[in-house]
Amino acid sequence: MPSSSTVAPRLPGETRSELRRAACRVLVGNWTGRSTVPSHELYPHQWSWDSAFIAIGLRHLSPVRAQQEMETLLEAQWGDGRVPHIVFNRAVPLDAYFPSPDFWRSSSAGAAAGAPRTVETSGVVQPPVHALAAWLVHSADPRTSARRGFLARVYPRLVAWHRYLADHRDLGGHGLAAVVHPWEPGMDNSPCWDGPLARIEPAAAGSFRRADLVHGTAADRPTDLDYGRYVRLAAEYRDHGYRDAAAPHSFAVEDPGFNALFIASEYALARISEALDGDPDGHRQRAAALTEALVARLWSPEAGQFLCRDLRAPGPDDDGRLVSKRGAAGLLPLVAPELPRPIVESLLRTVSGEHFGLGTAVRLLPSYDLRGAAFDRYCYWRGPAWFNVNWLLERGLRQHGESARADTLRAEVLHAAAAGRFAEYLDPYTGQGHGARDFSWTAALTLDLLARDAEPTATAPLPSASAHIPAPAPVPASEKGP
Ligand code: SER
Repeated sequence: MPSSSTVAPRLPGETRSELRRAACRVLVGNWTGRSTVPSHELYPHQWSWDSAFIAIGLRHLSPVRAQQEMETLLEAQWGDGRVPHIVFNRAVPLDAYFPSPDFWRSSSAGAAAGAPRTVETSGVVQPPVHALAAWLVHSADPRTSARRGFLARVYPRLVAWHRYLADHRDLGGHGLAAVVHPWEPGMDNSPCWDGPLARIEPAAAGSFRRADLVHGTAADRPTDLDYGRYVRLAAEYRDHGYRDAAAPHSFAVEDPGFNALFIASEYALARISEALDGDPDGHRQRAAALTEALVARLWSPEAGQFLCRDLRAPGPDDDGRLVSKRGAAGLLPLVAPELPRPIVESLLRTVSGEHFGLGTAVRLLPSYDLRGAAFDRYCYWRGPAWFNVNWLLERGLRQHGESARADTLRAEVLHAAAAGRFAEYLDPYTGQGHGARDFSWTAALTLDLLARDAEPTATAPLPSASAHIPAPAPVPASEKGP
């Protein structure tokens, strides 16, 4: 167990180069020609927020591929502006992943909402981290980006995506986007959804067949009961044509992580618009208004963090209720640059306090309250530490002037990635890997953190990183940009 004074050692140069090559090898191996699978076995298609995080790392390897990653995803955007959470690869057998395209039936069931005809997708969304990713991808190589017209092509699509969230998903009526399925905030089985999900009648156990258990350990994955509810909600949305005005949305939650990324991406849209000689003010105003709404709706001074608001919980004023459970999503608003300073300070205390224990009980931020009754160190989003969450926290810490803590966290993330063969998630106490290995966003975000210079100097023994690192494969020269 680390003490708060422990500073993670900087990886030696040789190990850093090996780690970089190994991360590149994962991304090359998981590239399918126009996008990257999160994992060939467990997630054999293109996922929305995965692709955004993948592009953030891929930009250091091949800016062109990073741009293509985003472009492929955005080509599957629906007419109403939604960016679907999965874009299916038609070459992959139907039974390789559940729910498969014949469950979602996007091109027929989603026709009224403008689902594309030429590609099959899911009908739900994932956190809007895409504009931030597009801006970072552009910044890695502005000349190639300009030559390919990258920003000019993606900007209108990103604007339409944000407009979808503002116009169709403000189910609470106070400016925040609501998620309508536990897959949408990306943290599928977070204990924060246990209450809202308890009201959903699960689909019959025999009415679907999970594919994830073929590759994943059952104890690390959501339960069959969770899946029954996921299926019920997705089918209900589909059967209402994926039209938000028509669907009952019996699960509707304002999530602080989802909205924090919405804010960060709205600021990124301002940067993109400036780069295109447009007017960034509207984006900045929307980001400021979202920040205000986030604080007004989801900040809990007692908890010292943001909480989810369950819009369907019965309450006196028909405005839902805050969910008292503490998820790591409640700390992600640190990525919002204009958060009031007292809130930032309170969040910083919570990050290292008894509920999340960063730098005291654990080395990486867990996905759920270490003290919560539902905490489970092995099970998906009920406790394990995830690399994208820690990457976002590192960014948030740095943004609010906490560079020493950010440096320490960055070093810990790199050590964990090296020791865990780019695991999907980790036991936050031991750092032991769980879920898929050679997981794309773990490799990508490792590359991104390695690309930055300053790290603390070595003061403590290193875990053996090289023992787990396979030899790298070369990247084709033609893909490296100009
Ligand atoms: N994360 C979900 C899965 O496990 C869906 O996006 O398949």
